[in-house]
Amino acid sequence: MNTTVPTSLYAQRRARMAAQLGPNGIALIPTAPERPRNRDSDFLYRHDSYFYYLTGFTEPNAWLVVTGDGTSTLFCQPKDLEREIWDGYRLGPDAAVDALGVNAAHSVADLDTQLPRLLENRDTVWYPLAIHQGLEQRVAGWLNQVRARVRYGALCPEQQRDLCAVLDEMRLVKDAHEQDIMRRAAAISARAHVRTMQACARMLREGQDLREFHLDAELMHEFRMGGSQYPAYSSIVAAGANACVLHYRADVAPVRAGQLVLIDAGCELDSYASDITRTFPADGKFTGPQRTLYDLVLASQEASVAATKPGARFTDPHEAAVKVLAQGMLDVGLLDRNKVGTLDDVLDRRAYFQFYMHRTGHWLGMDVHDCGSYVEPAEVGTVSERKDPLSGETIKNRPSRILQPGMVLTIEPGIYVRPAEGVPEQFHNIGIRIEDDAIVTPQGCELITRGVPVKADEIEALMRG
Ligand code: GLY
Ligand code: MN
Ligand code: MN
Repeated sequence: MNTTVPTSLYAQRRARMAAQLGPNGIALIPTAPERPRNRDSDFLYRHDSYFYYLTGFTEPNAWLVVTGDGTSTLFCQPKDLEREIWDGYRLGPDAAVDALGVNAAHSVADLDTQLPRLLENRDTVWYPLAIHQGLEQRVAGWLNQVRARVRYGALCPEQQRDLCAVLDEMRLVKDAHEQDIMRRAAAISARAHVRTMQACARMLREGQDLREFHLDAELMHEFRMGGSQYPAYSSIVAAGANACVLHYRADVAPVRAGQLVLIDAGCELDSYASDITRTFPADGKFTGPQRTLYDLVLASQEASVAATKPGARFTDPHEAAVKVLAQGMLDVGLLDRNKVGTLDDVLDRRAYFQFYMHRTGHWLGMDVHDCGSYVEPAEVGTVSERKDPLSGETIKNRPSRILQPGMVLTIEPGIYVRPAEGVPEQFHNIGIRIEDDAIVTPQGCELITRGVPVKADEIEALMRG
């Protein structure tokens, strides 16, 4: 359980959700299953984010049931001395009522007998659709048991609705407690990047056979020393040309002087993710071409940060970054003006896509690619069409989400130069991304990951130290 957040906060979230279920609605929220890795070893357990958001409870085999009148019932693992000797402490239903502030708690072994009773005389069942394998079938089984009793006067729910639609909107705007945890997660990750940059330069100075996985170990050290439970996603540690592989992992490739190293890594702290990318010269000194592209990506990030403010659209930071990157690609000769034309042509035809093929950000929260609609809910009916210049596909556009204080997103432009005909050789195999996490504030945005420097001169100074 997370002891840094008061129990009343989870009760408030359950009440806010309950108010949206309708008076005769009922919501079912299972936590995540344990997943076998091989034989009797499981993957490291991670609870379900929706379940945690409403309970703060991290044990497996648990369900939350909330009815429209605001009553919360928890199903959890029963106390069992033998299992607790092997697997660890269980809260148990008796203690759960006070510890979690729910109205009632039962053993999860009673789920199949209790659920038909709880579903009876409700009109709508809400649960996260298409998230938990087999959940739809289990709900169908419970509803069939209710139907078997309709001749005795019972009513069976007639509607099934997606609970994610309710919870995603709630999770999209982070409250003060969530922002506080995210700042702390970001600070740990920033320290990890600083440590890793310094270790990289030092190990090369000492002439060690440095590999990407050594740098991964430095990151992990700082994450765990900072109290983080685990990385928020598999860390990317990419030396040299590997940086042009967007989903590369930390592998065995040697890290050599003269190369750039791209590290995309962030810890998870008390269920909240951080997500930082820094790109730095392995030996602490950028070469000329590396510095040229680095400064371009940084300038695009600055434009993107300036566009991240309340009232702006989610797509505005991306468009701001793309404009700077595209102009820079023309200026440095990555794109040939004689072939691609003016800046407007490059933007219209998406010619920059050869070197910048991902979006500039995503929501960040309990999940690294967090939930929340990217379309403005009030404008979902406003649809326009455009033809994509690269694929020729017709794309339906809906107005992008309007940013509000408390939303948290990443800002992560990049440039990835694979060798190709006409691409200046000095830039071949350079991959650069710079990623920070931003909380939208009433004035603009707060970058919570700047505990690790981002300016080229500051990175070089740090790595000399
Ligand atoms: N680390 C995943 C991402 O940047 O989206
Ligand atoms: Mn990201
Ligand atoms: Mn990232």
